[in-house]
Amino acid sequence: MTRAISLHDVSKSYAKGVRVVDRLSLDIEPGEFLVLLGPSGCGKSTVLRMIAGLEEIDEGELRLDGEWANDLPPSGRDMAMVFQNFALYPSMTSRDNIGFPLRIETPGEDPRPRVDATARMLGIEDLLDRLPAQLSGGERQRVAMGRAIARHPSAFLMDEPLSNLDAKLRNHLRAEITKLTRELGVTTVYVTHDQAEAMSLGDRVAVLRGGVLQQVGTPREVYALPRNVFVAAFIGTPRINLLRGLVRAPLDGAMTISLGKQYLRLPEPLSLDHQLLRVQQGREVIVGLRSEAVRIAKPASARPGEVLITGLVEHVEFQGHEVLVHFNTGSRPAVVPELESPRPLRRVRRRRREGGTVLERIRERAGALRAGPVVVLEDPADAEPEPSAEMVPPEGRLPGDLIVRTTPDIDLRQGMQVPLLVDIGHLFVFDQHGERICPAPARLPDLEE
Ligand SMILES: Nc1ncnc2c1ncn2[C@@H]1O[C@H](COP(=O)(O)OP(=O)(O)OP(=O)(O)O)[C@@H](O)[C@H]1O
Ligand SMILES: [Mg+2]
Repeated sequence: MTRAISLHDVSKSYAKGVRVVDRLSLDIEPGEFLVLLGPSGCGKSTVLRMIAGLEEIDEGELRLDGEWANDLPPSGRDMAMVFQNFALYPSMTSRDNIGFPLRIETPGEDPRPRVDATARMLGIEDLLDRLPAQLSGGERQRVAMGRAIARHPSAFLMDEPLSNLDAKLRNHLRAEITKLTRELGVTTVYVTHDQAEAMSLGDRVAVLRGGVLQQVGTPREVYALPRNVFVAAFIGTPRINLLRGLVRAPLDGAMTISLGKQYLRLPEPLSLDHQLLRVQQGREVIVGLRSEAVRIAKPASARPGEVLITGLVEHVEFQGHEVLVHFNTGSRPAVVPELESPRPLRRVRRRRREGGTVLERIRERAGALRAGPVVVLEDPADAEPEPSAEMVPPEGRLPGDLIVRTTPDIDLRQGMQVPLLVDIGHLFVFDQHGERICPAPARLPDLEE
């Protein structure tokens, strides 16, 4: 028994006027594993609690298997919730902790067979007679999971169930959760702020920002075709490189995207996507380069579609199986306010306030800007001066504007000037508000490639 969960234009406010969930629509298929992903405070738990019936829905509609369910009490929803802080009864053994809800739901029925079967599934048979105080954190979480599973609910709602555990155990339990939910075939909604966890667990991932759904898709889709700069920056490690660029499309010359001191020359004949970029002529855009789009190699080894830039090594981060090289290419990184450290955040806010329209200022005061554009770039006319010819980073700036992943056998040291080949086929371009314009939204490249 599993169920379809669908939300239609669902909103929720705690304080007047500030929506923490804003017109969210989401259709979760029976048996699907859907992950709600987003930074802290974006409304993930609130969405989950509305599905569970623990939080009232202000506006919009919740349907369970197509039936209107806004007012259905939690007990009538047949769902089991697993929280970050697994609450086990301290005076009960694992067996009783797992069996307790069964005794309440089906009085008169012997819970032992179900408890035993669940324990076998989770590999906790040996722990059944112990008290919670005699269990490790991971074991306790498994017992808590057992309590949810033994009930045979029609859906699991899990709110960061692994975030209190160490990395090794988290990975282990992640694999177990995947296996279990597949075996049980029960619809699961799983909340996390950890993108790697979301990508490894979900059939689909729904990315939230400030209570607003940004994108929902398979892990492959949200990685390969992020709808906006927020999704692009939130998903993937190392984080996608985001550089501020200027499109130059002269009528009689090659089309380029200027990156401050250097530029990317778009290979001819122009692809359909790049032809569409022409309308951005003279406008500032954001160029997104994932680490697989850039490689350190001799210019002569350039493959078709690769263009050359150079970078000054600022910092080499050794990671064992790979090395992350931080380069200064003389370009300016684009800032996604919610995902940055406090310093650039303040800078962007101030600019927005000074330069914003009356409407923007009102929306900001009303707290509605969280749902607005992901990033707002100023007009190129009042942009900062171009970086100096020596490509030396300004005082106080973080070293490097471009991070490239490479194998550990390359010997690179700070201060070296290195050729970089950029694969234009892997280029993302976002407009001034952070919406993806390249690859063009209408044209979906073959993801099977
Ligand atoms: N009972 C409440 N009263 C007032 N505001 C609340 C309440 N619960 C949550 N909020 C606010 O609503 C917003 C969304 O909260 P929510 O707990 O859904 O976020 P989240 O995405 O789960 O965050 P985290 O990853 O930190 O758990 C936050 O700004 C939070 O402060
Ligand atoms: Mg939460």
